[in-house]
Amino acid sequence: MTRAVTITDLRASGHVAALPDTARAHPVAGSVRFEGLGKTYRSGGGDVRALDGIDLDIRPGEVFGIIGRSGAGKSSLIRTINRLERPTSGRVLVDGRDIGDLSESGLVALRRRIGMIFQHFNLLAAKTVRENVALPLRVAGVPRAEIEARVAEALELVGLADKGDTYPSRLSGGQKQRVGIARALVSRPEILLCDEATSALDPETTLSILTLLRDINARLGLTIVLITHEMAVIREICDRVLVLEAGRIAETGPVWQVFGAPRHPATQALLAPLLKNLPGDLAARLRTDRRGPRDEVILELRYAGITRPDLGALSQALGSRGRLLTADIDSIQGRQVGRVLIAAPADADLAPLVHLGDHGKVLGHADPADD
Ligand SMILES: Nc1ncnc2c1ncn2[C@@H]1O[C@H](COP(=O)(O)OP(=O)(O)OP(=O)(O)O)[C@@H](O)[C@H]1O
Ligand SMILES: [Mg+2]
Repeated sequence: MTRAVTITDLRASGHVAALPDTARAHPVAGSVRFEGLGKTYRSGGGDVRALDGIDLDIRPGEVFGIIGRSGAGKSSLIRTINRLERPTSGRVLVDGRDIGDLSESGLVALRRRIGMIFQHFNLLAAKTVRENVALPLRVAGVPRAEIEARVAEALELVGLADKGDTYPSRLSGGQKQRVGIARALVSRPEILLCDEATSALDPETTLSILTLLRDINARLGLTIVLITHEMAVIREICDRVLVLEAGRIAETGPVWQVFGAPRHPATQALLAPLLKNLPGDLAARLRTDRRGPRDEVILELRYAGITRPDLGALSQALGSRGRLLTADIDSIQGRQVGRVLIAAPADADLAPLVHLGDHGKVLGHADPADD
């Protein structure tokens, strides 16, 4: 019979260091700092500047998302954390230690503290699940009995306790990725790097893998750095997010803030599928210029979890001639985010109105006649 592994079990087995709960709630290990990081690939066809001037902190124990268009530099950035990629300028500090000058053995030790999972799982087809998961420990020369115990524990953690003797070809995509996660966790890392680890999976399996990652983060307190093209994923499981654009930081912050009121065009483009567009009739009528005396001003108020939408204040500022067009307020991680569209009379004082949200702006003018 399998039962859920508790934090006490993990501590007893040594998987989680015997820290008081307060320390687990505020992990101290697993921080990453990028300082003036740059990466230029030199190739025959000319230099490619993949990263430029990245200054950023990833905190211990957080789930940190990295998004950006294809080619923005996401993989290059994440791969500098375990030095699969060497920066051309600047430095990377893991737990305050510059990893640029590590010796060969220092680098091996670093990579044991940093697990990584990949899009294509990278499992060895000729080895069983148990052997695949055991591999990093065998390479590290861990005694056989300890390997057995730790592999069993890792398989239990990912819900595959009964699949140890199975070969990868007999597993589903989601199960393969669980093996990948177990293999990454078996060395008891402080940091887990995930580069599009779910993009080969269907939406439901993706969700189960991400839920597992979030669960592992909560149980073990390890830092997770995650790249994905799926914005809904970031929204569900990340604490903070970085938007990369052409190798630079476009914006970064808590997910509720960045997703609630995206400021950079790159973020807005990435989030466009998540954001509801203007109602069709309004989009067709909206103009940048004011033409007729009856024109209304169309205002957009975005809520990013700081200010609460306040209908009383809105109607007071609008007076009797204002109209509410659409309101779409959602709750992300307990914060109210979303958008309200208002039509205000052309002669209204807009200044107090645009300040009723966290981010307000005039979208344009429209003739009120048709709606
Ligand atoms: N080994 C390499 N040699 C030369 N150029 C490279 C190399 N790796 C990446 N690049 C270039 O660096 C830039 C950033 O690539 P990177 O793989 O980091 O982007 P990405 O954001 O991960 O993209 P994707 O979403 O498509 O995975 C791109 O222009 C890419 O072509
Ligand atoms: Mg990539």
